[in-house]
Amino acid sequence: MTAPHNHDHERQLWDAYAESASIRECVEVEEPVFRWTQYHDHPNDPGPQLLGDPRSVLEIGCGTGRALAHFARQGVRATGVDLSPVMVERITKRWGPLGVQFICAEVLDHLATTTATYDAVYSVFGAAWFTAPERLFPLVARRLNPGGVLVFSQPPAIPGAYGPQGMYKGGFTGRAMYTYRYSYTPSRWCDFLTEAGFIDISANVLDAPEAGHIGTLVVRAKTPASP
Ligand SMILES: C[S@@+](CC[C@H](N)C(=O)[O-])C[C@H]1O[C@@H](n2cnc3c(N)ncnc32)[C@H](O)[C@@H]1O
Repeated sequence: MTAPHNHDHERQLWDAYAESASIRECVEVEEPVFRWTQYHDHPNDPGPQLLGDPRSVLEIGCGTGRALAHFARQGVRATGVDLSPVMVERITKRWGPLGVQFICAEVLDHLATTTATYDAVYSVFGAAWFTAPERLFPLVARRLNPGGVLVFSQPPAIPGAYGPQGMYKGGFTGRAMYTYRYSYTPSRWCDFLTEAGFIDISANVLDAPEAGHIGTLVVRAKTPASP
């Protein structure tokens, strides 16, 4: 099920996010880092090796760009797409000198029009969370090289709350800015990926470091080695 996205409106929300003090500091001061979870030092974070040994990566909804900077430092061709012009301007200034290429675009629009292909496409609480999977996954599959990998992480669904979830920005005061994020059970994520032609699919919730705290959904799938 697809929600009535208004990308102009959502762009404003993500610009406001990019302008927040904590995100600004992340972009301007923090060093490159790669992690799938929301915890700074999760002992069981599967790390970038979940993507194999890619020569090229595309991060969808790349936010601060720190994960791409990590890959660029390893000599990987690193590309990020993000909806927010404010974010893209700042991350290009910070990480462009490392060779990371940033594209300011809505992910579905970008994937439908680009001809570039990648060994790995990933999202860390990024565009895979904010985009209808039945529209996103077929487009990702076409932009992956044979045997390519898609991995994404985000919070697990709240039991019984599936499909697009409306979300206001910040507190509940000020301009009404909202977007939609998509929540499903691990097995439903697997079904979406199967329908889009992916194989070797896994979807699991990684426990938080502390019992009873919010875990992380981690989903991985591959394209067939020969199309
Ligand atoms: C929570 S942040 C991503 C966090 C990121 N992993 C980081 O380290 O900063 C979500 C990002 O996804 C981007 N985004 C949301 N919807 C998008 C869409 N439809 N197309 C492209 N980017 C999108 C937002 O602009 C935002 O920068």
